[in-house]
Amino acid sequence: MYRTHTCGELNINHAGKNVTLSGWVQKSRGLGGMTFVDLRDRYGITQLVFNMEKDGELCRKARKLGREYVIQITGNVAERSNKNLKLPTGEIEILVDTLHVLNSSEVPPFTIETETDGGDELRMKYRYLDLRRQVIRKNLELRHRMAMEIRNYLSGENFIEVETPVLIKSTPEGARDFVVPSRMNPGQFYALPQSPQTFKQLLMVAGFDKYFQIVKCFRDEDLRADRQPEFTQIDCEMSFVDRDNLLDAFEGLSNHLFRSIMGVEINDKYPRMPYDEALRKFGSDKPDTRFGMEIKDLKEHTEGKGFQVFDSAEYVSGIVATGCADYSRKQLDELTDYVKKPQIGTRGLVYVKYNEAGTFKSSVDKFYSPDDLQKWADAMGAAPGDLMLILAGETESTRKALGELRLEMGRKLNLMDPKAYRPLWVVDFPLLEWDEETNRYYAMHHPFTRPYEEDLELFDSDPGKVRAKAYDLVINGVEIGGGSIRIHNEDLQQKMFDNLGFTREEAAKQFGFLMGAFRYGAPPHGGIAFGFDRWVALFAGLDSIRDTIAFPKNNAGRDVMIDSPSSIAEEQLEELFLEVKKEELKKIETRTSGRKQ
Ligand code: AMO
Repeated sequence: MYRTHTCGELNINHAGKNVTLSGWVQKSRGLGGMTFVDLRDRYGITQLVFNMEKDGELCRKARKLGREYVIQITGNVAERSNKNLKLPTGEIEILVDTLHVLNSSEVPPFTIETETDGGDELRMKYRYLDLRRQVIRKNLELRHRMAMEIRNYLSGENFIEVETPVLIKSTPEGARDFVVPSRMNPGQFYALPQSPQTFKQLLMVAGFDKYFQIVKCFRDEDLRADRQPEFTQIDCEMSFVDRDNLLDAFEGLSNHLFRSIMGVEINDKYPRMPYDEALRKFGSDKPDTRFGMEIKDLKEHTEGKGFQVFDSAEYVSGIVATGCADYSRKQLDELTDYVKKPQIGTRGLVYVKYNEAGTFKSSVDKFYSPDDLQKWADAMGAAPGDLMLILAGETESTRKALGELRLEMGRKLNLMDPKAYRPLWVVDFPLLEWDEETNRYYAMHHPFTRPYEEDLELFDSDPGKVRAKAYDLVINGVEIGGGSIRIHNEDLQQKMFDNLGFTREEAAKQFGFLMGAFRYGAPPHGGIAFGFDRWVALFAGLDSIRDTIAFPKNNAGRDVMIDSPSSIAEEQLEELFLEVKKEELKKIETRTSGRKQ
């Protein structure tokens, strides 16, 4: 028997017991005639003691143990004189009688502790060592518990988990597909699912009524902190529901997770905020509503005073930073630099300090009198002591920039309480989105999203105004999930494809199977998919989803541990009738050398 107990289990009640433990040597230290070893496994750390006086040979053997050696010991549980009450096992230690080295270890490239000395690439290369660190393992334990709760909850609500294929045809979620060549069908390719969208709709046609799946999805898109090329969705679909039934049902799931995992009771119904309002008030379709600082429109109060920047701007709006009128030149310069960063992309920032004394000091004093500025303060709800920050420009981009500035001020002023959770539904997204580059409309969500019946007449006159029965679950500024009520009849689906610029033939070729299914009694249905990795990251308090995933990819989409993607053998290529354009590749490789390390 390798062990009688785990390394996280023993406490003062076990004093006097003979035990056998197995685990990894976290560290060892000699102190006079004693050697202390911290033995670690998934469950915790137990202190081992080797006494030179009692058994010199054993103690010398213990002194040779290196970090990460795998050992097995037997010994007696004893009360510690020097207790560590931070550890569950901190009141005891094991007086060791026997020691077996089960395996040795090379010196690990970084220390296996919370604050490791391993940089990102090193940690990813030796991910199996990184995963030994308690901080990472805890994320995966959380992930497991959440998956169990999700399965139990949804199963209890009559959802059944159905697996859908991974080798499929392209799904229209808007990113690029990863493709897989088919040996048996030379020249043809499968696509990996960006989501199981069409399959879950087919399951509704098949009468499954309530479906879910915790499922891997694949998207070939540029990576960010909240994006991985393969990620996991909690994918769900229901029949015979309208939007509000569906939102209620999944508020239930969300509340269950908050309660069972975080011990947080969310009593209020989640606000349902139209997309337009989210953009207008927060400059974002995923507003962080843990704090106010709403955007206020100033256009009408700024016109006609000779300030060209504002007069010529389509949009002039601002936010109020409470109590910041005493911001220094340097602080204001920092904010100006922030909004000028290429990702934010504005040309400048106008500030107005509403001093405690009731006077104003602004960067536009030349153009606006104190009376003018008082009107701004009134319109924005600013009080003495506050700082008004104003941006001007083209509506859409300036609004987004102001949204980013709002978040930046929220961070600076510590307004985002990490322990507060403010879930909300953003609803009524536009059905279509105009793309300047290709000069056509795209489905904002995907082409199966149902428009509001009352907006249908706008389809021909002003398609950009048609609202969709689509919704996102947003928690603390993170888009946790998104979905919609679907189109379930062929005519409307065809109309949608027409508006998206598909010819009848193209639509039939790509989605004929779904339109065909709609001819056989498709029930009204709708669904949603949650980003599981994002939800785990939110609960774990992580900024990036990477450490919620056991074996993630780096920012260049590479797995540096297994060194993937990699080239394949000539024979494999030949079998697939594929050829790599080697000359072209060389050119790219010289351009991007360095990215692949
Ligand atoms: P959507 O594309 O909004 O909807 O995706 C649903 C949720 O998945 C998460 N997500 C991601 N997480 C990590 N890395 C990524 N690359 C990534 N992309 C998306 C987000 C997002 O809210 N089929 C529809 C759902 C439906 O209509 O039912 C869909 O996939 O949290």
